[in-house]
Amino acid sequence: MAITPRSGSEIRAAFLKFFEQRGHKPMASASLVPEDPTVLLTIAGMLPFKPVFLGQQQRPAARVTSSQKCIRTNDIENVGRTARHHTYFEMLGNFSFADYFKEEAIKWAWELSTEVYGLDPKNLVVSVFREDDEAEQIWRDLVGVKPNRIIRMDEADNFWASGPTGPCGPCSEIYYDFKPELGDIGIDLEDDSRFIEFYNLVFMQYNRNAEGELTPLAKPCIDTGMGLERMAQILQQVPNNYETDLIYPLIETAANLAAINYQNLDSKGQTSLKVIADHSRAITQLICDGVTASNLGRGYILRRLLRRVVRHGRLLGIEKPFLATMGEASIALMAAAYPQLLERRELILVELAREETRFLETLDRGEKLLAELLAANPLQISGEQAFELYDTYGFPLELTEEIAAEHGLKVDLAGFEMAMQAQRERAKAAAVSIDLTLQAAIDQVVAVSAITTFNGYKQLNQTATALALLVNGAVAQQANSGDQVQLILDATPFYGEGGGQVGDQGLLANSAVKVAINSVTRNRNVYVHSGQVESGSIAVGDVVQAQVDRFSRSRAQANHTATHLLQAALKQLVDPAISQAGSLVDFDRLRFDFHSPRAITPSELDQIEALINSWITAAHSLQVSEMPIEQAKAAGAVAMFGEKYGDLVRVVDVPGVSMELCGGTHVANSAELGVFKIISEAGVAAGVRRIEAVAGSALLPYLNQRDEVVKALTERFKVQPTEILERVALLQEELKATGKALAAAREELALVKAAALLNQAETVGDYQILVARLDGIGADGMQTAAQQLQEQLGDGAAVLLAGVAEPAKVALV
Ligand code: ALA
Repeated sequence: MAITPRSGSEIRAAFLKFFEQRGHKPMASASLVPEDPTVLLTIAGMLPFKPVFLGQQQRPAARVTSSQKCIRTNDIENVGRTARHHTYFEMLGNFSFADYFKEEAIKWAWELSTEVYGLDPKNLVVSVFREDDEAEQIWRDLVGVKPNRIIRMDEADNFWASGPTGPCGPCSEIYYDFKPELGDIGIDLEDDSRFIEFYNLVFMQYNRNAEGELTPLAKPCIDTGMGLERMAQILQQVPNNYETDLIYPLIETAANLAAINYQNLDSKGQTSLKVIADHSRAITQLICDGVTASNLGRGYILRRLLRRVVRHGRLLGIEKPFLATMGEASIALMAAAYPQLLERRELILVELAREETRFLETLDRGEKLLAELLAANPLQISGEQAFELYDTYGFPLELTEEIAAEHGLKVDLAGFEMAMQAQRERAKAAAVSIDLTLQAAIDQVVAVSAITTFNGYKQLNQTATALALLVNGAVAQQANSGDQVQLILDATPFYGEGGGQVGDQGLLANSAVKVAINSVTRNRNVYVHSGQVESGSIAVGDVVQAQVDRFSRSRAQANHTATHLLQAALKQLVDPAISQAGSLVDFDRLRFDFHSPRAITPSELDQIEALINSWITAAHSLQVSEMPIEQAKAAGAVAMFGEKYGDLVRVVDVPGVSMELCGGTHVANSAELGVFKIISEAGVAAGVRRIEAVAGSALLPYLNQRDEVVKALTERFKVQPTEILERVALLQEELKATGKALAAAREELALVKAAALLNQAETVGDYQILVARLDGIGADGMQTAAQQLQEQLGDGAAVLLAGVAEPAKVALV
């Protein structure tokens, strides 16, 4: 049977259609930046559904299917060297959440592979987990795979988990055999010149905890992954994934820039082109999903990939900046499947170009230094040298290793590690830390009673039951007066910190206890109320009245609505492409970070303030509603990074002004803001600006504080407020004039003193030697005196010393 070649997008569409016809809800790809704090990047199609597998989140449907963008960087050095290692790739998947299991998953996978994609069953081999008799029996008896072509594999290959903890289970994989003529005997699935694994079916049955123990999931689930690029390689009958239509156009773009031809290159040159093509897709998508280059976490992954592209470009002779060209080509290649790339095109290209320029500036110097080091024929590159290259010249360690390896040398990694220690400590402090004790309490609550019901959009007060509590960080049954507590309730009106907005403050109380709550966080759908027991005691099971402090809540919501108005005003007055990079909504102010290649001018800031105040005066009633994301986007709602498609989203609409997806709390009418004031505008990172502002009653303390300063100044200078500036300018001028006069006087004094010193010089042989103390003429004066003496002494030496009182030291010329 001959294979019909298909384009990557046809393969994707056929997969999704096949499973949609079998009752699966199609879901758009989630962001590469996962909600799960335990992983840096989305590494598999199942990741966005991890809380669903664990029963912590409602399933979006019993069966879903998706094509998920993924990035894996665990064996980055293999990229471009083997036929199918990638950083960025797409994983097609069909998922069952406590619905169908092994039999359907296996039968459909086979039907799709053989009937839809037209693969000849003679070219297929399957693997099963060593102990999974059931899977083997289904393949053999229900599907009809020859027993010789069902291979048992052990845990290392056929037991799949998304990480050290979380859902996992045995799996079964389908392989394509490029050389079926070699027969069924002695099949070695590790031989990747013969076999390619293209479809992995995971039978999710367990959850693994931090101690490594497996507990069965309440209902088994299915998680599958088909590598889109791999299926494309098979169906397009090309020697590797890179030569499929999903990647090859990028190889051509880079080859054109270097004026070379891929087909004529040796394997080293081809590898460089493959690395450039692979990483170009990754960095384009990462920036699109809101990652910016830095030295930590995801930012470092982006920086490392990006710098590898530049470095391989130079190996091929591309000396000029070319990342924006690669970004443009990557967007063109992927935009049909990922239209967000078009929306964020400007941002992506600017970030690529900026980071590249920054790197090129240091790369030249670093390459020279490394060449010098290598020219000395060392035995290895020391840890300190590698660290200097990293720290001062921005060389990723791997790049130094790569270049050293080209000269047959190794890098002292242990030494590098030591030099990195300080950096490490900082990284650790900045990383999201997961409190395991709290996690245990939350898991307990989730196990017995679903989750906290949040009622805080509608009410600020309700009765609730304490489900679990921690005292001083340890799980406990009861908390007493004075204890620091964390409480989990079955329901709450308290907003849990999220979407930039701070958690509510307030009180949990009944006749026997009073707990002052000063922060509330949200861990998935469990709300954790932190505070102190002011009086009495509280135990698990107690019923309390949960009361949000109205005053602080109303301030937070004024600032939150103001944040939406600010984003709308920036888009309207400065640039429609402006997008959010971060946001903090606090009780006393708001902070909005956004992508912009330039500063916002003072006159633009004035206009923004005026426009927002006009919206406030116009008294717009806000409309908040829930709708499917597709509908929200069609209506023009501003989406953030990482929202989950296919879900119901909450849309906050200030009619005619702003429409955003938002889970935060807001005022009912814009008039409640009263007034809006910008406090500052500044740059916080390359290409990111920050505006701080205040709205509503929080403005009063801010204004009072400023007013105090003005009052103090008017009193001290004895002037009217409007005269302060003039008075300060006058004082500055006087100060300048006085300074000049003082300097001139010192000069003169220096010359006089120098002249007086001349006759103190001693004659030693042919030379005049003078050592003298010369106070009170300042550093410039000492220079002048020294010059004068030098001229007059002729051959000789003069040492001048002066004592300076504060801080005590000696000046010497
Ligand atoms: N989650 C499985 C994988 O990534 C399907 O291979």
